Amino acid sequence: MKFRISSGIPMFVFVSGVFSLLCIALFSKFYSFKSFLVFDTRCNFDTNSRVSYRPQVEILETVIEKIEQEIVDIRDSHKDSPYALRYGSFLADILGPIEAAKLALAETGVGEPSEGFTDMGSGSGSAHPGSIDHVLPEFFLTEEIRKYVRVKPNRLGKQNFMGANGTFTSIGHACFSMKQELEEYMNYDVGEICNDDWRLAQRLMVHGCDPLPRRRCFSRAPQFYTKPSPINESIWRLPDNKNVRWSQYRCKNFVCLANNKTGKGFFKCSDCFNLTHHEFPRWVVPVFPDPTLNSTPDFRITDVLDLKPDEIRVGLDFSVGTGTFAARMRERNVTIVSAAINLGAPFNEMIALRGLIPLYLTVNQRLPFFDNTLDLIHTSRFLDGWIDFVLLEFVLYDWDRVLRPGGLLWVDSFFCLKDDLEGYLEGFKMLRYKKHKWVVVPKMDKDDNREVFFSAVLEKPPRPF
Ligand SMILES: *[C@@H]1O[C@H](CO)[C@@H](O)[C@H](O)[C@H]1NC(C)=O
Ligand SMILES: *[C@@H]1O[C@H](CO)[C@@H](O)[C@H](O)[C@H]1NC(C)=O
Ligand SMILES: *[C@@H]1O[C@H](CO)[C@@H](O)[C@H](O)[C@H]1NC(C)=O
Ligand SMILES: *[C@@H]1O[C@H](CO)[C@@H](O)[C@H](O)[C@H]1NC(C)=O
Ligand SMILES: *[C@@H]1O[C@H](CO)[C@@H](O)[C@H](O)[C@H]1NC(C)=O
Repeated sequence: MKFRISSGIPMFVFVSGVFSLLCIALFSKFYSFKSFLVFDTRCNFDTNSRVSYRPQVEILETVIEKIEQEIVDIRDSHKDSPYALRYGSFLADILGPIEAAKLALAETGVGEPSEGFTDMGSGSGSAHPGSIDHVLPEFFLTEEIRKYVRVKPNRLGKQNFMGANGTFTSIGHACFSMKQELEEYMNYDVGEICNDDWRLAQRLMVHGCDPLPRRRCFSRAPQFYTKPSPINESIWRLPDNKNVRWSQYRCKNFVCLANNKTGKGFFKCSDCFNLTHHEFPRWVVPVFPDPTLNSTPDFRITDVLDLKPDEIRVGLDFSVGTGTFAARMRERNVTIVSAAINLGAPFNEMIALRGLIPLYLTVNQRLPFFDNTLDLIHTSRFLDGWIDFVLLEFVLYDWDRVLRPGGLLWVDSFFCLKDDLEGYLEGFKMLRYKKHKWVVVPKMDKDDNREVFFSAVLEKPPRPF
């Protein structure tokens, strides 16, 4: 936090000089308090020798008031001066840390010793919004987590444009049961390059620490990123290997991923990187799993779009894949966002390098779309016979929420054990959608005959009440 101010206008120099002295004095205190606070909080509580920071808190409160008053004055009296603007925003900048220091001090000195997370689950937290803010950050030892989780009051104590008087950054509740991993994840130097730990991040997310806290370090990038292929070529071409970080994968290039070999580190959609052979015919030429039967779980995009000509414009593909569904829909001028996580292969990078939109999202989360907005949800190879019946219902109700009335849910080759089929079909029937297509086809790719495919195209009914 350097203090820079132009020497062009004497008044500013004078005022800012005074402030810079004040700031230096304050900041040296602030940092010594801070380190004291971070390392000694628990010791203080343990030895019952709690220190009162009340006098320091009062000093900081006075300083905060003065800075706030100065900001208001400068805005009122010099609002057209560029220096005033800069000076005002500088003051606003230093206000943040000072307020944080005051809060931290106030909590440490005045608050009760925290027992950590133990009183969170009982619901006592919801009765006292303030106590969550107190207890929750204290649970973690890493300072960056505590800083992230703490409620950030708005500057000047006013409501922001969203009508909230603070910013309530949140993390997934399972972060608390993965404390050690999360602390490892959040252990970094502010402003430096982050560790090469996206896999740790993804592990945390998949296990319910989702959302993850944000970080204040720079994510690693491929060493020699070359510009992506032009859009008229990128969609059907394997991207440049240089544009992906391969260190955490078994395959170290796209050709390896596209090769029809086992041992790539993932099994779902192991052919998905072979754009020329495996991907090209999908949703254009149906596959018949049993040549003796005239039935297929594959519907063609053309046939599905013809159910609602010109009405299907935006949608979500919740699948395991490399974005080919979105690619084909793009040819039909339909915008599809492809949800993907990087399980064993760089699916997100692949989708983006093809010129399509990846959405890095686990199944744990409520969809980040508003109610009644999407025309289409397509799903294949993600939700299958592994999924819990109750979870399936939560997922389906959420999909129903974001689909607009008249929107389509395309369940594409859902497969499960024959014995489980009835249970799953109950879940889909529960939606009470109009059935445009509905097929159950034996799955023939294993020696036994125990699995079936289920595919359907369903339409959300209007619910005018
Ligand atoms: C935020 O506003 C509520 C009332 O809307 C108030 O009770 C609460 O104390 C305020 N919190 C802060 C940090 O100002
Ligand atoms: C893609 O477009 C560029 C110019 O916009 C053109 O030079 C190139 O030949 C095109 N590639 C293909 C495969 O059409
Ligand atoms: C895609 O699969 C076909 C058939 O298995 C194979 O001949 C081709 O080499 C594969 N493509 C790549 C890039 O490996
Ligand atoms: C990959 O190999 C399997 C058998 O190992 C075969 O069934 C499948 O068709 C092959 N995929 C492609 C794209 O050639
Ligand atoms: C997509 O939009 C383009 C430009 O508006 C148009 O030329 C093209 O015919 C459309 N394609 C389809 C399949 O509607």
